[in-house]
Amino acid sequence: MFRLRGTMQPQAYLATASVEDRMWWHRARRGLVRRLLRGAGVRRGGVLLDLGCGTGAHLALLEDFAPRLVAGLDRSDLALGLAREKAPRAALVRGDLSRSLPFADESVDATLVLGVLCHAWIENEVTTLREIRRVLRPGGVLIVTEPAFRLLRRRMDQVGMAVRRYRRREFTALLEAAHFEARLAAYFTVTGALLVLALKGAEWLQRRLARGGQEHAPAELSLPPPVVNAVLFAIARGENWLIARGLPTPFGVNLVCVAIKPGAAVGA
Ligand SMILES: C[S@@+](CC[C@H](N)C(=O)[O-])C[C@H]1O[C@@H](n2cnc3c(N)ncnc32)[C@H](O)[C@@H]1O
Repeated sequence: MFRLRGTMQPQAYLATASVEDRMWWHRARRGLVRRLLRGAGVRRGGVLLDLGCGTGAHLALLEDFAPRLVAGLDRSDLALGLAREKAPRAALVRGDLSRSLPFADESVDATLVLGVLCHAWIENEVTTLREIRRVLRPGGVLIVTEPAFRLLRRRMDQVGMAVRRYRRREFTALLEAAHFEARLAAYFTVTGALLVLALKGAEWLQRRLARGGQEHAPAELSLPPPVVNAVLFAIARGENWLIARGLPTPFGVNLVCVAIKPGAAVGA
C-alpha cells in the first residue's frame, strides 16, 4: 500500500528499478537522451555525470560514450544501492543538489539532470543550475528532462515528490538566469498526454469510489501488457526521433532541454 509522506517512498525507488529497463516511457526517454548526447557532440574520454541519478538506468547509457569517468549523484542511499547493481563501474556519490557539488570547477563535459529539478528536495532551481554550470567546462552540455504542464499533475507526482511542472518558456528563463544557452527546448511524450489525461480521470474515479480506503500504486510503477508496452514504445520512439530533429511540439507530458555552458565548443 502506498502512503504519501514527506519523503520519497522506498516502494517508489524499488518499483522504478524493477520496471525502468523494460517500460516504454523509460526506454523511449533513454533513446532520446542518447540521441541528444550524440547530437551535442559529447567527446570520448570525457567526464559525464548523472545528477539525481535515482536507480541508475542512465549510468550504463553514459558508459557507451567511452568516458574517462561516469559518476552518479543522489541524496538517497536506497537509490544509490539500486544504481550500484545497474552500473557497477560508475562512481556513485551521495550528495545534495541543493548544496555545493563535490566536483571541481570546469571539470565535467556533460551532465544529465532527469526529473530532478521538479523535486521537493530542490530548494531553488536557479541556484542548483548555477552550481551545475560551475562544474561544467565551457562548452559543456546539460541535458534536462522535467514534467510539463500543471494540468497533467497526478498521483505519480505526489509519489515521486514532484512539486513542479514546467512550460517551455518558464524553463528556458531558468536556464538563462543560470547563464546557460538553451539549444533545444521541446515537449515530449506528446501522444502519451492523452493516456495521462485518461489516467487522471481513472484516479479521480478511484478516489471517489474508495472514499479513504486503500490507495494503490500509480499505474506508472507497473508494466502494461507487453503488446501495449510495445505499441506505446514505438509511438514514443517515433516522436522522439522527430523531436531530436527539431520538430516543434506544442504539448507533451514532459519537457526536454539541451543547454550549453557558453564558451569553447564541445570537442574543441
Ligand atoms: C524522479 S527521480 C529521477 C531519477 C532519474 N534521474 C531518472 O530520471 O530516472 C528523482 C531523483 O532525484 C533525487 N533527488 C531529488 N532531489 C535531490 C537533491 N536535492 N539532491 C540529490 N538528489 C536529489 C531523488 O532521490 C531521486 O532519485
